[in-house]
Amino acid sequence: MMNTTMQAVRVTEYGGPEVLKVETFKKPAPKPNQILIRNHAAAVTAADTFLRMGTPRLGRLFLGLRRPKNPIPGTGFAGVVEAVVSEVTDYLPGDRVCGESLFGFSSYAEYLVVEQDAVITHMPELMSYDEGAVFCDGAVTSWNFIRDVANMKSDQRLMIIGASGALGTAAIQIGKEMDLHVTAVCSSANAELVTSLGADAFIDYKTTDYTKLNERFDVIYDTVGKSSFRACKAILKEQGQYVCPVLKGELFVDMFFRSQKHGKKAKFAATGTRKVVELRAMLLELMEMYRNREIRMVMDRTYAMNEVVQAHQYVDSGRKRGNIVLSMEL
Ligand SMILES: NC(=O)c1ccc[n+]([C@@H]2O[C@H](COP(=O)([O-])OP(=O)(O)OC[C@H]3O[C@@H](n4cnc5c(N)ncnc54)[C@H](OP(=O)(O)O)[C@@H]3O)[C@@H](O)[C@H]2O)c1
Repeated sequence: MMNTTMQAVRVTEYGGPEVLKVETFKKPAPKPNQILIRNHAAAVTAADTFLRMGTPRLGRLFLGLRRPKNPIPGTGFAGVVEAVVSEVTDYLPGDRVCGESLFGFSSYAEYLVVEQDAVITHMPELMSYDEGAVFCDGAVTSWNFIRDVANMKSDQRLMIIGASGALGTAAIQIGKEMDLHVTAVCSSANAELVTSLGADAFIDYKTTDYTKLNERFDVIYDTVGKSSFRACKAILKEQGQYVCPVLKGELFVDMFFRSQKHGKKAKFAATGTRKVVELRAMLLELMEMYRNREIRMVMDRTYAMNEVVQAHQYVDSGRKRGNIVLSMEL
């Protein structure tokens, strides 16, 4: 008899990692234009932990005022197509796929359904499910920031703060593919990692105050939001930009009051709010880079579903190197 249930992580309220519990759910059924995926791996991202905490609080207006509206967290997934309904033309049962469910969440689960025209693609033969699950986090976000938000051109100088994280490790490789000069900022524990990914220079933020360098940068990409436009202004070139994916009140003040019309600028963007068709196009371009061995995902730890609390605790530590995965196979 066909199994009609699945195991998934339920988020019961906003709070620490302990609000995540593994429970039995009804297996989802695909509707017209949807694909049912037997999920093998889900990304556990820094953004997931902010959503779990419900911070910044303004976000709760969209995510649920008292508790998350969607009971199953997670957005990055990779697995095998289990079933399609007649309208689906691009995917067949057995296809290996990965993608990002955006505000549909639900990837911390053994099964999920997504629209066939969602942010989804076939996985290259050599790509593991773990790599596929995390691909839309660091790679797509850093592609958006470096290429579209900062509009960088070859030979420009890029500083990446948080170069050893998910966004940072992808950003180094994207920067080198775009022929940028890349300076990576992280602790000395990760110096070898960022250099192996192609960084031209490395700065240990624990021993060097990079805001006092004599060098000037076209773009400072603060992936972890640990610095600020004000602190970095002195090391930006005349038209230089401080771009940051971490939502903070100070960044908004910088963007609207301290950025100069014709000079140095501070910028924030929420990649997940871009049009699905644009996100899918970015994913496809990056997959081509993966096929050409121009980008790889840096994998740190893989946790079983029943270790979801430990996975979130590790991400909360702020020390992860690259990416973390929740495996449905362990
Ligand atoms: N707006 C968007 O579109 C968007 C999309 C995705 C994610 N995000 C956000 O982007 C942020 C970054 O995510 P992530 O997953 O890349 O982060 P992460 O992987 O958690 O970053 C961890 C890394 O940051 C390094 N680090 C910690 N403190 C540092 C400091 N003071 N200076 C330099 N490096 C430091 C650590 O290296 P050491 O151990 O060596 O210090 C560690 O390897 C999150 O806040 C996430 O929510 C935004």
